[in-house]
Amino acid sequence: MTHQARQHSDEPGWPGQDAGRLMSGLATEALIDHLVARYHNAVRTLFPKVIAIARAVERLHSDHPDCPHGLANFLQVLSDELSDHFDKEQDDLFPSMLHSPQHNLRFPIDRRRAEHEDFSDQLDTLRRLTNAFTAPDHGGGEWRLLYDTCRQLDNDLRLHIHFEDDVLFPRFETAAP
Ligand SMILES: [Fe+2]
Ligand SMILES: [Fe+2]
Repeated sequence: MTHQARQHSDEPGWPGQDAGRLMSGLATEALIDHLVARYHNAVRTLFPKVIAIARAVERLHSDHPDCPHGLANFLQVLSDELSDHFDKEQDDLFPSMLHSPQHNLRFPIDRRRAEHEDFSDQLDTLRRLTNAFTAPDHGGGEWRLLYDTCRQLDNDLRLHIHFEDDVLFPRFETAAP
């Protein structure tokens, strides 16, 4: 398990441990299909919505002392970087795993692992920017929706990292020369 995922799993109720054991029982093709449908596609769909809400909250509450100034732009950069990451997995790494598993995949896997570490750091920043996903008491429903959605993104992305780093990738590392 990665350092960041381990750190997050210390929180009560984090589902990564049990879910990881379930994922371990899936064949590689089914596991990849699940990662793309449940995580890549879901996260790609969620980002434009959460960015729009962040822009609205920043505009509506610009004078509030807890206003998350810059959150929408931060989320836009994270979305762009994640989209590139998902594309590299879906267009290159995953097809190689399914159709050319005899190739040495250590280099692309190492690159994807390094990107996961960067994303974990960015999720730590997201948690800090949103006061650990806690909106102010009288911030209103839109602000709560924004932080609840950010929490969902954090959870989905940390699970995505855990399943790839600790379940999928090791299947192609142990046999590499
Ligand atoms: Fe992925
Ligand atoms: Fe990934």
